[in-house]
Parts: sequence; structure tokens; C-alpha cells
Amino acid sequence: MSIKPVKKAVLPVAGLGTRFLPGTKAVPKEMLNIVDKPVLQYIVDEAISAGIEHIIFVTGRNKGVIEDYFDIQYELNDTLRNRGKTAELEMLNSIQPKAGSTSFTRQQEPLGLGHAVWCARDIVGNDPFALLLPDMVMQDERGCLSGMMDVYNQSGGNIISVEEVAMEDAHKYGVVGIGKDVEGGFEITDMVEKPARGSEPSNLFINGRYILQPEIFDILATQERGAGNEIQLTDGMLKLAAKQDFFGYRFQGNTYDCGTKKGFILANIAYAMERDDIRPDVINEIRDLTK
Ligand code: UTP
Repeated sequence: MSIKPVKKAVLPVAGLGTRFLPGTKAVPKEMLNIVDKPVLQYIVDEAISAGIEHIIFVTGRNKGVIEDYFDIQYELNDTLRNRGKTAELEMLNSIQPKAGSTSFTRQQEPLGLGHAVWCARDIVGNDPFALLLPDMVMQDERGCLSGMMDVYNQSGGNIISVEEVAMEDAHKYGVVGIGKDVEGGFEITDMVEKPARGSEPSNLFINGRYILQPEIFDILATQERGAGNEIQLTDGMLKLAAKQDFFGYRFQGNTYDCGTKKGFILANIAYAMERDDIRPDVINEIRDLTK
């Protein structure tokens, strides 16, 4: 069986970001900065370093700024050039996506993650694709998606990244059942969104990175509502798992849920620690503030 390579990634950015109001009233939460880069840039970097060649953003209302961010800003570039700011200019050029390598589609109503993914169906076509939730920022030298690609290139099928959480917290997450080991991962035997306490199949939670086969779109097309009256991706994946293999990849790096205030602040601190220019000052200031 030949395994089709994964070259496209879907980034759903159509959520309302209500947990960050009023900050997200005019600025999408994916455009909030961690140190000096928007959250979304970290996710795009992870996708590209895993070999992704085309990124599909599923956007919503008030998200035009995302499209502008990935475009060339001629006036800014000219001003930087005239002022001799070559380092800044080179940095902007280095993160500029190649022409034609991004697509934008709209989720007209925020009907849930499953619905947002389904909105990308025409652009993805009949190919396997990566799905990266931009809320979840994964700090890891190699990149979470690159690790998942290794499992995929051995096993094919569908891959879900998971990581450990304390057993007493597992009921707050989507968790998986663990089957036999495969090269770099394990077979997934079950998926449960927010299981009742005591019924958790494991303490491995689904942390926001997926490689999925295009047959998921036919399942999501039925538009069945699940928890919160939303079209849930996990429900769709469970149905697909009856027909196709799902494998788990254990992510070992640090994950920051930047959809929450705590995760977002921790991500800023964690990435500041990687920056020689600000690290010592930040440590000193935090020490003073927490005395
Ligand atoms: P969240 O559950 O964090 O929802 O979505 P949200 O609306 O973004 O944020 P809150 O809860 O109101 O603060 C998880 C991911 O799914 C996307 C979001 O953009 C985020 O990346 N999403 C969610 C959509 O694209 N469309 C939806 O209808 C729901």
C-alpha cells in the first residue's frame, strides 16, 4: 500500500475567542503576540518545518487582519529599506509565505470545530491533510507535526497527537484508548470527549494536532450536532475510526493552551526564556514581582 504524502494543512481560526474579550473584540486571538510573533506564526512555522507546502486558513468575521499579515506590506518594506533596517527587512522576507501557498476560506457561522474543518473540503480535495489548532502552541525543538509525520510515513491512516495529563484532570479533555504499539506510536482504540470521571480510557489527551484522511469530510458533511450543539470533530473521527486506522503519537515537548489566559501568559514566559536578549531581565523582574 502506498502512503500519500501530507502536503496541506488546515488551520481553523474562525472561533470567537470569548475567553479573551475585550482583547479579541477587534484583534483575533491568533494574532496576539507571544514575545514578538503572533501565535499563528508559531503554528505556521511548525507546519512548514514538517514539510507542509500549502496552508488553508478557515477564517471568520473580523479576521481580515490574518490575510494582511501573510501578505507583503510594500510601504513598510520601503520604509525599513530607506531607514537601513536590513535585519528587520530580512526577517520579514524570511517568514513571507511563497506566492500561492496559502488559501483562505470562511466559516460563515461558528458551528464548531468539525464544521470549520469541513469548510476546507474543496481546497483540500482528495488528499490527506494536517490539522493544527492554532490555540495550542507546542514548544519543541523538532516540532510536534514533524514527529507525527514519522509515524504517518510508517503506518499511514490517521494520526492524533496526545500527551499526558494528571488522571484526575483527564475528564476535562478529549482522551484516547491505548492499543498495541506501532513504530513511533500506538493504535488508538477509542476516543472520548470529556469522559465521565472513572470512565476515562487513559490519561492521554488529544492536544490539537491531527493528520486526517479526506474521508472525514463525507462524515462531517452530515452536519450532525454533538456536545454544545456544535458539529464536533471528535464525533466525526470516531465514525471514521470504524473504517480506518487511527494511531497515537505521544508528544514530549511543552504545550501551551493559548486560548486560556494562563496558557497564553506561560507561553510568553517560556518563549522569553529562549531569547538571550530579554531572558535575564525577565527572570529578574518576575523574581521581584513574585517576592
Ligand atoms: P475554541 O473551543 O477555543 O473556541 O476553539 P473559540 O471560539 O476559539 O474560543 P472561546 O472558547 O470562545 O474563548 C478551538 C479551535 O477551533 C476553532 C478556533 O478558532 C480554535 O482554533 N474553531 C472553533 C473554529 O474555527 N470554528 C468554530 O466554530 C469553533
